[in-house]
Amino acid sequence: MNHDFSELEGILARYPKAPASLVMLLQDIQEAYNYLPCEALQQVADELKVPHSQVFSVATFYKVFSLTPKGRTIVRVCKGTACHVRGAQLITDECERLLGLRPGETADDLEFTLEVVNCVGACAMAPVVVVGEKYHGAVKPNRVRKVLGVKRC
Ligand code: FES
Repeated sequence: MNHDFSELEGILARYPKAPASLVMLLQDIQEAYNYLPCEALQQVADELKVPHSQVFSVATFYKVFSLTPKGRTIVRVCKGTACHVRGAQLITDECERLLGLRPGETADDLEFTLEVVNCVGACAMAPVVVVGEKYHGAVKPNRVRKVLGVKRC
């Protein structure tokens, strides 16, 4: 994937060039690109003068980081216990059908990524779907299209 890395220079300038800046830098790069491009990881290692293997270890240790591109909108269907007993599987099925994605997949146009997650901390609202930053509670299968904001096929 080709990227405009002009933003990377600005991100690298935000923090001291020291190993302690690594996680913060990766967080900002993840936010800017929706994942951690390989070229960016190499540049971070060079700038901070830390081994590439250390950067890779941190990038793969934290679940918040991704080494593959994510969609502009991440759809997280909760399948924790409270959501599971209130129909999370039906919600997942409908998300899969409407988005044409299996959990863990990203659309070719990078519009959506579908993820299945454990408890998102809103059990009283179960079943819960988080679209981007917005929590949707008591979701029914027939409301999934509206929650996702996708048009009729
Ligand atoms: S189990 Fe889904 S929000 Fe807690």
